[in-house]
Amino acid sequence: MNRIPVITVDGPSGVGKGMVTRWLAQRTGFHRLDSGALYRILALAAANSVDLDNHAAVAALASGLKIEFVGTSEDDEAILVGGQDWTREVRAETTGALASRIAVSPEVRAALLQRQKDFRVAPGLIADGRDMGTVVFTDARLKLFLDASPEERADRRLKQLSKAGIAANFATLCEEIRARDARDRSRSVAPLKPADDAYLIDTTGLSPEAVLAKVEALSVAAGF
Ligand code: C5P
Repeated sequence: MNRIPVITVDGPSGVGKGMVTRWLAQRTGFHRLDSGALYRILALAAANSVDLDNHAAVAALASGLKIEFVGTSEDDEAILVGGQDWTREVRAETTGALASRIAVSPEVRAALLQRQKDFRVAPGLIADGRDMGTVVFTDARLKLFLDASPEERADRRLKQLSKAGIAANFATLCEEIRARDARDRSRSVAPLKPADDAYLIDTTGLSPEAVLAKVEALSVAAGF
């Protein structure tokens, strides 16, 4: 049994997982895993070199990628792949769509599984994604599942992107979010759904402070 504590934060895109994960990491001093970034990086690397629908070829690329997450706050975080700064490309909306295309593949998911587990180091880990509580860290001490309406998530994403200097359109974003949700929720391997023992938080209409107040109450109750 692995005694290093894990808190999982799952949910669809644009629901505030990043904010909750950062806040929990700061509160606990634990490490962080942004599992979506791993799928995004692999999709980008694959798009440059192989056919994205050739899942065996995509999966084969996973072990050779040298990935580093640097910085701790939203403003100074960077993602280095093979020593190069990929932050902007990784965060682009189009990359999220590419990632969800390869994420349907059991081979691709298996290739990333151990890499994700490797982030579980002392003193603990806050892991965010789609299947952290259901597949990767089933023995997590606290599991959260965040949700919100697609419109609200598109609106938040629009603000996030514009802060990062990336142009986007509300209607297109809404459409992309719905399409990505449908793909993530309906796939046969590790579909997006709450673990049986996860706490559900519907963040529609809630301020960031109100969401964090709920998270704080749950984390105190779980002994964090
Ligand atoms: O969370 P993020 O938007 O960065 O994830 C990009 C895509 O990667 C998701 O839409 C999903 O298809 C896939 N993903 C996944 N499992 C995870 C994290 C991300 O399938 N644990």
